[in-house]
Amino acid sequence: MTPEALIELAKEAMGHAYAPYSGCKVGAALLCADGTVYQGCNIENAAYGPTNCAERTAFFKAVYDGHRDFTAIAICGGKDGVIEGYFPPCGVCRQVMREFCGDDFAVYLTDGQGYKIYTLAQLLPHSFGPDHI
Ligand code: THU
Repeated sequence: MTPEALIELAKEAMGHAYAPYSGCKVGAALLCADGTVYQGCNIENAAYGPTNCAERTAFFKAVYDGHRDFTAIAICGGKDGVIEGYFPPCGVCRQVMREFCGDDFAVYLTDGQGYKIYTLAQLLPHSFGPDHI
């Protein structure tokens, strides 16, 4: 699957966001090694802390279904669902990626016009992971 196609699925996922507090709607599309795609959105909570990011929603759906090998994730987001710039993954989501993905796992970010590709190693250098335990 092309980066463009995965990004389109991330944009579609934004429409599923439950974000009554921040108004930021975020979408993610996670590509498994076998070609399966899992979409995720952010799901906020009145207590704030339990909020789940779009990326983790996608990962947790995929892992529940038995997937452990991942190739790439596309992420986009913006206030009221309008993409006005790149929406990079938070630190917690980067760490969740690290649990299941290697250094070359690809992260596609879009500003609605073009896209940038980062590796997980670029986004989370000198990381702590399962190999350290
Ligand atoms: N959010 C994500 O969905 N992914 C991230 O990586 C960063 C933040 C969500 C959480 C919250 O609902 C909103 O964006 C504002 O922080």
